[in-house]
Amino acid sequence: MRCVSWLLLGTCLLVPGPAVQGAPGQCPSLCHCHGDLQHVICDNVGIKKIPRVSEVTRLLNLQRNNLGNIPTGAFSESKGLISLHMQQCQLREINSQAFKGLKKLVYLYLSNNEISTVKPGAFEDLTELTYLHLDGNQISELAKGLFSPMINLFILQLNDNKLRELRPGTFAGARDLRWLHMSGNELTALHPGSLDDVENLAMLHLDRNKMSTYPSAAMSKLRVVEELQLGRNPMRTIPDNAFQSFGRYMEKLHLDNMGLEKFSNGAFTGVTALKSLHLDNNKLKSLPRSLELGTITNLTLSNNPWSCTCLLAPLRRWMDSSRNRPDAVCASPPQQKGKQVRESATLAGCRVKAQKGRKSARD
Ligand SMILES: *[C@@H]1O[C@H](CO)[C@@H](O)[C@H](O)[C@H]1NC(C)=O
Repeated sequence: MRCVSWLLLGTCLLVPGPAVQGAPGQCPSLCHCHGDLQHVICDNVGIKKIPRVSEVTRLLNLQRNNLGNIPTGAFSESKGLISLHMQQCQLREINSQAFKGLKKLVYLYLSNNEISTVKPGAFEDLTELTYLHLDGNQISELAKGLFSPMINLFILQLNDNKLRELRPGTFAGARDLRWLHMSGNELTALHPGSLDDVENLAMLHLDRNKMSTYPSAAMSKLRVVEELQLGRNPMRTIPDNAFQSFGRYMEKLHLDNMGLEKFSNGAFTGVTALKSLHLDNNKLKSLPRSLELGTITNLTLSNNPWSCTCLLAPLRRWMDSSRNRPDAVCASPPQQKGKQVRESATLAGCRVKAQKGRKSARD
């Protein structure tokens, strides 16, 4: 019920209205309010409808209430909101214009709901939004241009949803996006062009997905990725030039638990700043020529069938000169089987060919 008009008589006419309750300008029942209603806290208080708050309210915390959906116009009187918390509200759908009027909103938390559908236009008006948390939902598709109102979006959390593919235009307009987290989805393909709108990404998490090939074309416009997580995708190889477009910036690379069998020789071409590399739990026998170990301070190699021939000599040399002595056990040749790379006498005796000249000439 909603109070539609204060009549001259001073009575209030009650009519069925939008699924919002209470009058703005006072603390909604069951909620706590602070600072003259600037903060309205309704965390886990059993409300079923979105309370009305006036434009003085900056923060509205509705988490852990069974709200089910967000009616259009639910926040039309809440134009001052900067932070809106709706985690664990059993939300199932985000309708178009669900957040209409929230032109000052910076933080929107929608994690751990049951959202399966986000309608086109759902985020209309959210031009100041910087942090959007949608992790722990059931989202399988993102409409083209869904994020386009969010010209200030910086962090997008989509971990643990049901996304299957990314198509061109998905991130159109979100050109300031820096962190994109999509771990724990069902992604099989990032189509060419799907990341072209977010070329300034610094952190890209794609681990725990279902990609069987490295998405070279989709990644090729990224320029400044510092951290890339691809672990737990069933990829058997990493192709030449996989990281080249952002290789000068990439400091952390996670390629663990993938069933990875082989790197192309030029897989690491252009990678010059790597500090942390995780290759554990794969089927790797060797490392590619293009991998420069010199900058690395954190390397994991365990549970791979390393072939301890002189092809691994650069790794052994790096281990000898590094404080980091990671676990890496030889699986072949037979006389080396079971030995640690760092203790293998064969590897200690290898002569090392200089490769740098050829490589830097190509970069
Ligand atoms: C190495 O990287 C892993 C994974 O990012 C991290 O958990 C660990 O703390 C790092 N170790 C060091 C010594 O920096």
